Parts: sequence; structure tokens; C-alpha cells
Amino acid sequence: MEIQTTAGPRTHRTPPTSAEAPSNPALFQVTRIERALLSALQPGEGHTPPRLAGAVRHALFPGGGRLRPKLCLAVATACGDPDPHLADAAAAAIEMMHCASLVHDDLPCFDAADTRRGQPTVHRAFGESTAVLAGDHLIVLAFEHIARAAADAPRKLPHLVSLLARGVGAPFGLIAGQAWESEPRVDASLYRRAKTGALFEAAAALGAVAAGASPQGWSVVGARIGEAYQVADDILDVAGDPGRAGKPVGQDATHGRPNAVHEHGFQEACWLFERLVRDAGDAIPPCADPEPIRAWLREAERRARSLL
Ligand code: IPE
Ligand code: IPE
Ligand code: MG
Ligand code: MG
Repeated sequence: MEIQTTAGPRTHRTPPTSAEAPSNPALFQVTRIERALLSALQPGEGHTPPRLAGAVRHALFPGGGRLRPKLCLAVATACGDPDPHLADAAAAAIEMMHCASLVHDDLPCFDAADTRRGQPTVHRAFGESTAVLAGDHLIVLAFEHIARAAADAPRKLPHLVSLLARGVGAPFGLIAGQAWESEPRVDASLYRRAKTGALFEAAAALGAVAAGASPQGWSVVGARIGEAYQVADDILDVAGDPGRAGKPVGQDATHGRPNAVHEHGFQEACWLFERLVRDAGDAIPPCADPEPIRAWLREAERRARSLL
């Protein structure tokens, strides 16, 4: 693939209208997420330095699987979704964190990747310094957006903010996960749980809290499926096709990163994936309507398998 080195015009998929909602819940969820992300950008975008604003849009649109915000909304829906505005904001914040992590993960000082979601990575399109700032800005925006949206639900705000920070920071979140790569020894499961599992865990927990439910059981669902997803990504990194994946493969061997296939072998890694997906399904707590979360689990598993 030819890599563009300057920011060019981008085409954006138009989100479907809410008129399609009643007959197609999956499409309705996608609409909610795209709209929530656009509304998160809105307040300051017109006054943001244009190159930075362009890099942030490039990081967010078009999306990949949007698995984490879909998980957040699926849990909120399973818990009755009494405050959809807050659930939307939580979903957008989670996806902004995820996209920030991808921008930083692709930088030359991390995985030095040229492509992401079939496009040039942010630093290849906008330059390294703008990419660093775009990731930073997305992290700040995620917290700001939650804070604004929770103005009418001040009792939920500290819980939402601390769960989000736990999923992203150290010692449990994705920053810790990325930092384990700089250590001489790392427990591979701990690494996967921090680097990837923690943000899925936060997505599920935020969905529950936004809906006024306890996050406890939901966190386990998110953590298990998140770890499963990283195992699938490890298998993809060893056995996948870069064209279909939309990103380079073989990165873990190149950079000496822990990888479930290197650690356990291909077959064992596949069994580990299956066991974690099963554990996630078994952890679903009693709720008003389990179908949205069961549907999400089927989609997450399908997406992980389709990449392999
Ligand atoms: C990629 O996550 C990074 C991992 C933690 C494996 P996704 O596969 O969810 O990326 P997008 O958002 O769909 O591109
Ligand atoms: C990414 O892990 C997880 C993040 C915290 C960004 P990887 O480096 O394995 O993910 P890909 O393969 O680049 O998407
Ligand atoms: Mg990485
Ligand atoms: Mg990477």
C-alpha cells in the first residue's frame, strides 16, 4: 500500500439516521456511537489548531470495530439504559481513549507502524509531533466529555472518572500494559489484561454505572473478553494477513513483545481464546435484558475470528 505522507481529504461514512433504529438495533448502536463521537469533538474543534483537529479526526474516523463503545452501550441497554445521553458520552470517552492508545502505540518509539485501519497511521499522515499531541488531546477530551455529560448526574461522575482512569492508567490500565514492554520480565497474562483487558473492563463498567447499575459483574465480562481479544490479536500478529487486518503483522516478534502464540503455541493460544470467551459469557450478571450483551459477545467473537 502506498503511504501518504501529508494529510489529504478524508471520506467519512455518513451515520444512518435514527429513523432506522427500531428495526435494526445494531445499526442504531453504530449511529449512537458515531454521533456521540462527533458531538464530543464539537465544543472546541472550530478553535483548535487545524492540523491538530485534522489529526484527531483521522484517529477517530473512519472507525474500526468500535467494539469497546458497543460493549459500553450493550451493558447500559442490558441495565435498562435510563440515561442514554450519559451512556453515549461514556461510550465516546472509551473510544477516544482507545483511539489515543492506537495513535501512541503506532509511533516510531513504540511499534513504528505505517498503517492502521487500512489508512496511514496518524504520524505518517500528520507528522510525529502532531500525532503525540492528537493522542494527548483525545485523552483530555475523553475526561472533559464525561464531565460535561454528567452535569445532571453529579453523583455518578466520580465513579465514572475513576473507572475510566483505572482502565487507562497505572497500575492496572493500558498505560501500565504498554510500560510492561520496557521491563526485562513480564507476566504475559498480566500484560494482556492491562494493555487490552482493562479498557474493555472499563467500557463494561462505565455502561453499568451510566445506567445506575453496579459495575461489579460487568467488569468481569469486560476483562475476560478483553483478554480474549488480545489473544486473538496475538494470533493475528503471527498468522494474519496485513491486507485484511489493515495493519502490519509480525510486530511482536520484531519488537520482542510477549505474544500468546510465542508463549503457548498456536493451538494452545486458540484454546485460551475460546476459554476466555466462554468465561466472559458465564460472567454475565442478572439484568433486565441479557440479549444485547449476548449479541455483543457473538459479534466480538465473530470479529476476532474473522481477522484470523
Ligand atoms: C486493536 O484493537 C488493538 C488491540 C488492543 C488488539 P481493535 O482491533 O479493537 O482496533 P479497531 O478499533 O477495530 O481498529
Ligand atoms: C495495542 O497492542 C494495545 C494498545 C494499548 C494500543 P498491540 O500493539 O498488540 O496492537 P496492534 O496490533 O498494534 O493493534
Ligand atoms: Mg503495541
Ligand atoms: Mg501495535
